[in-house]
Amino acid sequence: MAHETEKRNAAAAAMDFVEDGMTLGLGTGSTAKFFVEFLAEEIADGLVVRGVPTSEETRRLAESLGVPLVDIEQVDRIHLTVDGADEVDGQAQLIKGGGAALLREKIVANASDLMVVIADPSKQVEALGAFPLPVEVTPFGYTITAKKVYDALCQAGVLRPRIKVRTGPGNIPLRTDGGNYILDCDCGTIPDAPKAAAHLAHVPGVVEHGLFTHLCRVVIIGSEDGATIFEY
Ligand code: 5RP
Repeated sequence: MAHETEKRNAAAAAMDFVEDGMTLGLGTGSTAKFFVEFLAEEIADGLVVRGVPTSEETRRLAESLGVPLVDIEQVDRIHLTVDGADEVDGQAQLIKGGGAALLREKIVANASDLMVVIADPSKQVEALGAFPLPVEVTPFGYTITAKKVYDALCQAGVLRPRIKVRTGPGNIPLRTDGGNYILDCDCGTIPDAPKAAAHLAHVPGVVEHGLFTHLCRVVIIGSEDGATIFEY
């Protein structure tokens, strides 16, 4: 795996934010996987926490490692969420959803007292947009929704975004855990992420989008021999 050590070191540094008794949002992806593995080791040594997984993939991983889980409907407080990102800029704005889990990731992050992002240095960008922005849409009317997403992004200052429905095995549209489709929107550059987020939120058929603004307050960037913590 590319950047394996950097991802692992970022995840290890995030363990410093974990305290006994916490309810934790468990992110999705290869970096978040390292965090769940570290957590499982600490739980085996006596740490008492419970997790809210952000995807079925993470649920299966946590269960296989003996991390206690709690149904999100039974939770009134999530103390901390630790998750990866596809891009992070200098204001802790993110693109997420490369693993198609952005809807649950955003619900859980938004419900958390603190969201900590763990990433390798390749995820740091000057401006968001080189990574295609995932937008989760209802299958009903998705070709119309894609045109409206195009318009919304243009209104937010994106130049000629290229939009594709994400496909899976058999070249059919991939279904998210919620049964929806993902539109991957190649924007080049997103000049104003909050503006793009606001425009996308108004498109009927858009369930959620992968722009995370005002959600993350700590970014941990792993390196070959440690990690750097940025607080916002
Ligand atoms: C999943 C995500 C992931 O956090 C993002 O894709 C980063 O993944 P990785 O840690 O494997 O690079 O948003 O929906």
